[in-house]
Amino acid sequence: MCGIVGYVGFRNARDVLIDGLSKLEYRGYDSAGVAVRTERGLEVRKKAGKLAILAGDLEQQPLAGTLGIGHTRWATHGLPNDANAHPHATEDGRLVIIHNGIIENYLPLKQGLIARGHAFRSETDSEVLAHLIEEKYAQANGDLEVAVRTALAEVRGAYGIVVTHVDHREIVAARTVSPLVMGVGDGEMFLASDVPALLAYTRRVVYLHDGDLVVLGQDGYRITDLSGNPQTRELHHIEWDAEAAEKGGFDTYMLKEIYEQPSALTNTLMGRLHDDTGEVDLDIDLDPSSFKRITIIACGTAYYAGLVGEYLIEQLARVPVEVDVASEYRYRQPLVSENTLVIAVSQSGETIDTLEAIREAKRFGAQTLGVINAKGSSMTREVDDVLYIHAGPEIGVASTKAYTAQVSAMLMLALWLGRARGTLDAEKGAELLRAARELPRLVEESLQPERVANIERIADKYKRARDYLFLGRGVNAPTALEGALKLKEISYIHAEAYAAGEMKHGPIALIDENLPVVVVATESFLLEKTVSNIQEVKARSGKVIAVVSDGDEEAARYADDVIYVPRAHEMVSPVVNVVALQLLSYYTATLLGRDVDKPRNLAKSVTVE
Ligand code: F6R
Repeated sequence: MCGIVGYVGFRNARDVLIDGLSKLEYRGYDSAGVAVRTERGLEVRKKAGKLAILAGDLEQQPLAGTLGIGHTRWATHGLPNDANAHPHATEDGRLVIIHNGIIENYLPLKQGLIARGHAFRSETDSEVLAHLIEEKYAQANGDLEVAVRTALAEVRGAYGIVVTHVDHREIVAARTVSPLVMGVGDGEMFLASDVPALLAYTRRVVYLHDGDLVVLGQDGYRITDLSGNPQTRELHHIEWDAEAAEKGGFDTYMLKEIYEQPSALTNTLMGRLHDDTGEVDLDIDLDPSSFKRITIIACGTAYYAGLVGEYLIEQLARVPVEVDVASEYRYRQPLVSENTLVIAVSQSGETIDTLEAIREAKRFGAQTLGVINAKGSSMTREVDDVLYIHAGPEIGVASTKAYTAQVSAMLMLALWLGRARGTLDAEKGAELLRAARELPRLVEESLQPERVANIERIADKYKRARDYLFLGRGVNAPTALEGALKLKEISYIHAEAYAAGEMKHGPIALIDENLPVVVVATESFLLEKTVSNIQEVKARSGKVIAVVSDGDEEAARYADDVIYVPRAHEMVSPVVNVVALQLLSYYTATLLGRDVDKPRNLAKSVTVE
């Protein structure tokens, strides 16, 4: 998640860029930079820290020009410092680029460029683009559009890229995965990673599609695909006000974040799974043979991600794992030593209970790893190593995209440990790797309008229920727990969750004709047992809402209502299944008139005990 702005027209580019970037701060930032085409050439200013630091610098020493590009960075490769901030320029300063995304094959590209005499000034993956396009520019006899196109043909990964050259009063941009939207003005053109950055200037926008390359000049633009074939894209008129625009046209941040899950998952997985070798590259220093047991500590939703992690790590890496809520762990004199790896899972990286639990573990000599979303947060500075989930900023109080990204991170960790410790053979590893790669697409499918409409209908049918019960088994037992938590926190309906096999040991007494029971009954080696549980609920007149794999008529047969979800490998299915439960909670809450983004009594980041 980075913010991108580009401008060519008649206004002072610096003002448009800083103003636009300030509207994109919700995308996260740890540094910011601009390049403006002035009388002296392309001048770059970039600073680590908040945008205000760069804005202050530009107040002191203004840059005057009517073409420029700007960027706020959320670090993936390389520390958040001045050198790693964007834009990146070529050595002669005649070409600059900004980039949002991850270049998966940047290492071989970089090695080739260095061998051909290019000197790198940053640790970023993005800088390879500047050097590569520079080479292609020379080969294309100064045709910037062709240079960008031929360079991108060698690039694997995700990008929203914006390029300009001192000899061209034009901006060339292209996208794959990372978003880019163009603003069309009169005698001026804009570019941004999201609409809020443009709204002060124009309401006419063109959303670029994957594989689009655009050339923007003051008086217009032309779009082609990456092979150079002309493309036509619809011009939209934006009606939203500024606040709605920050929510991307969605009614709430929570819904926006639910819909962001396919791209958040792409970012979590990007560059880490290598199909060719079946290996997982997490870019962490941890020695996988240096511990004998693992303890996962977290709170709330992150704790449930930890429970999925326990299941996956034990299955794939055969290391004993325990999961504890951080507020308990920190006070119970845990049995922990240097043979223990303590994994802290946290979206904010600021939750005080988790932070204190990490400190407690360190006092006993444990190794610590954080599975964290927020860059630069307190936990990232306390743990020995960080596995960032790259879900992008989460603003809605109820966690959605961070949860699915956390679960995916736990899956990658389990795969990595399994391969490194020799408990997971290459064939099985490759099968799971392929299943993980499918996740963004499967979650995208989960969000198809007809599926969402079915869930909204079910939410409406049961919205007056006083209580709900959620059941699941195996790797999806935590899915039931997370479903119940989501419903409680945003709809205020009481909900309980159990491993389905536990039902007979108590909760079954709750069942009557007024109790909706959500059963996660997707494809699993335990499915028959879950179907028996469904029948037990039905025999006591409970109302069953079954979450079932597409096409599974048997599991659906006894349910009052069915939520079909895309078929997924069981080990990755918690990511897909939970999306249905997020939507069920969301629509139940909104139909009851609740404020889902700010549910009562809750805070996004719990920094008090
Ligand atoms: C629920 C929710 C909370 C958090 C918990 C931990 O939707 O968001 O339960 O998961 O407060 O927060 P982090 O992950 O920031 O440590």
